[in-house]
Amino acid sequence: MSKRTIRDINPRGKRVFVRVDFNVPLEGDRITDDTRIRAALPTLIDLLNRGAALVVASHLGRPKGPDPSQSLAPVAKRLSELLGKPVKMLSDCVGPEVEAAVKAMKPGDVVMLENLRFHAEEETGDEGFAKQLAGLADIYVNDAFGAAHRAHASTAVMAKFLPSVAGLLMGKEVEMLTKVLDSPERPFVAILGGVKAKIGVIESLMQKVDTLIIGGGMAYTFLKAQGKEIGASVLDEENSETAQRILEQTAKSGPKLMLPVDVVVTTPAGVKFKPSIKFVEGSPVEVVSASAIPADRMGGDIGPETRKLYGDEIRKAKRVVWNGPMGIFEIAQFAEGTREIAQAVADSDAMSVVGGGDSAAAIEQMGFADRVTHVCTGGGASLEFLEGKELPGIAALQDK
Ligand code: 3PG
Ligand code: MG
Repeated sequence: MSKRTIRDINPRGKRVFVRVDFNVPLEGDRITDDTRIRAALPTLIDLLNRGAALVVASHLGRPKGPDPSQSLAPVAKRLSELLGKPVKMLSDCVGPEVEAAVKAMKPGDVVMLENLRFHAEEETGDEGFAKQLAGLADIYVNDAFGAAHRAHASTAVMAKFLPSVAGLLMGKEVEMLTKVLDSPERPFVAILGGVKAKIGVIESLMQKVDTLIIGGGMAYTFLKAQGKEIGASVLDEENSETAQRILEQTAKSGPKLMLPVDVVVTTPAGVKFKPSIKFVEGSPVEVVSASAIPADRMGGDIGPETRKLYGDEIRKAKRVVWNGPMGIFEIAQFAEGTREIAQAVADSDAMSVVGGGDSAAAIEQMGFADRVTHVCTGGGASLEFLEGKELPGIAALQDK
């Protein structure tokens, strides 16, 4: 990567501010997935081994002001377990108490600041606030790949005020995403799902891939653009015309664009988007042709014929990027499409990079995470990277 990393600095005897993305899912104060905490360990351990004192900082959720239910205290506790040393949880991220605690640190000490988003100035990218954060340390390390698409005070602005380098996770994410986009192996297959029609990513990947596989909610926007009846399935109206243009363009000059030929449907009443709902109850779940979705049914997953066609294509690939699930995989009857695609990606001998967010959660949950080349820790960030956008959190760091 073209940016300086922690390999290029000597942190001995220094206070190092490490911006991590510890925005982890919580149920009460129980962390249900600590992947993002474990992913930052190599950076934290390396800096500690080389004699730094660490000020670890993150956001959690999207609080509007201080909110005890979104405190980072449970995260500090888990980090302490993983590091095998005390992590002192502070009650804020700026102010005299924080300054005093940070000043008292010795090499090897770790403190965790409270949720940066308890201050509105974080998200507005306020310079004064960024300066206050920078005042806590001698060096700034950004290892928060998951938040690199945000130009917030702690993710980008504070880099102006300190020597600023990338952490090892940030470096690895950029390396893997760059590799999968730019290496010469073919065929290159992109699999896109999720609800929104990810137009920017499609337009960017169209220039690079041999096959574009579309599933999940966004498939219905394309089926509709082909003039098909999609019943009560989700439609991304805003992007209907663009979807049509993409269909015309790919038909003319490639890449090969694959859409579902069959789908698993139920009635909208059967689909409740609540974490507690794991099954469709009281409504029929059935497979229909993607050209004949009944008016009162909505699609929840790709059907068995589609899974086979997609799977065959993926197994032949030499490079795969995947972002977004194939259906509502949180509901058992709609999980099979995503599961079979995960299986195909795992079976292929392709270099495979799975975008963060839902597809990363799915591949973890389904047990295939260690059979893909790389699972990103960032959802929105990996999408914007695939789109070819410059990420503010990376751009702000010092060049090599
Ligand atoms: C994420 O989980 O996507 C990142 O932590 C960024 O969070 P945000 O979407 O609330 O900015
Ligand atoms: Mg997000």
